[in-house]
Amino acid sequence: MMRLQVFYLCIFWLNNFSYIHGSYKFNSLNCELCAPDGGYIKQCHIKAIDRKHNMINIEAILNKTISQFEIHFKIVKRESGGWHPFLYDIRQDICQFFKNRRKFFISNLIYSFMKPYTNVNHTCPYMAGSEMQLLNWTPDEGKVIAKFPVDYGQYGLHTTWYVNKVAALQINGSVLFFK
Ligand SMILES: *[C@@H]1O[C@H](CO)[C@@H](O)[C@H](O)[C@H]1NC(C)=O
Ligand SMILES: *[C@@H]1O[C@H](CO)[C@@H](O)[C@H](O)[C@H]1NC(C)=O
Ligand SMILES: *[C@@H]1O[C@H](CO)[C@@H](O)[C@H](O)[C@H]1NC(C)=O
Repeated sequence: MMRLQVFYLCIFWLNNFSYIHGSYKFNSLNCELCAPDGGYIKQCHIKAIDRKHNMINIEAILNKTISQFEIHFKIVKRESGGWHPFLYDIRQDICQFFKNRRKFFISNLIYSFMKPYTNVNHTCPYMAGSEMQLLNWTPDEGKVIAKFPVDYGQYGLHTTWYVNKVAALQINGSVLFFK
């Protein structure tokens, strides 16, 4: 009994020591369909939780079954008035990704922050009539910072979704990371 409590205390301490005190707030989100016959966007919003915190909600309905898609994503950082490439610029085949996530280290790392909030979590196909969601996305800042020890500032994630090699959807978001 005692030992268990000490164990939990240690876990608690470890968690708090690795926690860097910072916070984040999403400050832009844009979703744009490039292929409107493929589906539609039900919502694409930043929703306030309180004055300092907010979350992202994205829902898209598919009108066609998807059996091949890729996401081209880049992380960018805002510096001297413009967006500049930052760390990663990757084009990831999503159907392949879900066959073996461990093979794709960076994509899997980024996905791990979304996994509990999305139903995009399986191999293809994604059926016509189904919904792709990222709901109440509030990644744990401590965990993100532990993996990406970045400076305070403004960062963006720009994504283009290709269905059968044709650009179908763009989702760009940005986040302010502050003390
Ligand atoms: C997303 O960002 C790219 C630049 O990386 C830009 O070309 C594109 O127009 C943006 N799309 C949306 C929907 O904001
Ligand atoms: C997509 O499906 C929705 C719901 O079934 C329908 O309202 C909409 O018109 C469809 N759009 C296209 C372009 O087929
Ligand atoms: C995928 O997401 C759905 C909806 O959140 C969930 O019910 C299901 O268990 C998830 N599947 C996997 C393999 O994680």
